Amino acid sequence: MSPPGASPVATLDWPALREAVAGCRACSLCESRTQTVFGVGHERAHWMIVGEAPGEQEDLRGEPFVGAAGRLLDRMLLALGLTRGPGEAAQQVYIANTLKCRPPRNRNPEPEELQRCQPFLERQVELVQPKVILAMGRFAVQSLLASTEPVGRLRGRVHQWRGRPLIVTYHPAYLLRNPADKARAWADLCLAAQTADQAAEPVRPPSA
Ligand code: URA
Repeated sequence: MSPPGASPVATLDWPALREAVAGCRACSLCESRTQTVFGVGHERAHWMIVGEAPGEQEDLRGEPFVGAAGRLLDRMLLALGLTRGPGEAAQQVYIANTLKCRPPRNRNPEPEELQRCQPFLERQVELVQPKVILAMGRFAVQSLLASTEPVGRLRGRVHQWRGRPLIVTYHPAYLLRNPADKARAWADLCLAAQTADQAAEPVRPPSA
């Protein structure tokens, strides 16, 4: 049973969480979605990437970041030796969004939508237990850091989410419109790589 005040989502395992997201009707986005977009990648990835919300392509395919912004994200990951494709936990990332349903006409997420969807993202992070979280764009920052400060002011240092390192960077869709900031985004990715390398390995019990 969940402790009083805790979201019942906070105790779900992967299959139950997938099912809860697929059947969610907590906000009006369920009326217009083609399908929910849960997340992809290694379930114990060292890197967890958090974006904003599904767009048109993602809503149709059921996978995050498959449009133009996703192609840029894939190139950025490749440059770091990371991938969304099959791989070990150190190479294959986990990618999720703050919202699991597409906002109509790709409008910005509403605060109430972010709030209702937040337990799903939080549970995904708790299950993955990443060594580093990369929050891309202001809505990922709003959800995970509860901050409305601009990305430009939060990037460049290591934040914490429930004791896990979190790096803020620009959203790839923003970088497509503002390529001059790609160098800053690369610096953020290098900081994330350094942070993931430094994160302590989990303590394993001695083998019998
Ligand atoms: N932008 C996001 O933040 N997420 C997606 O899945 C696609 C575009």
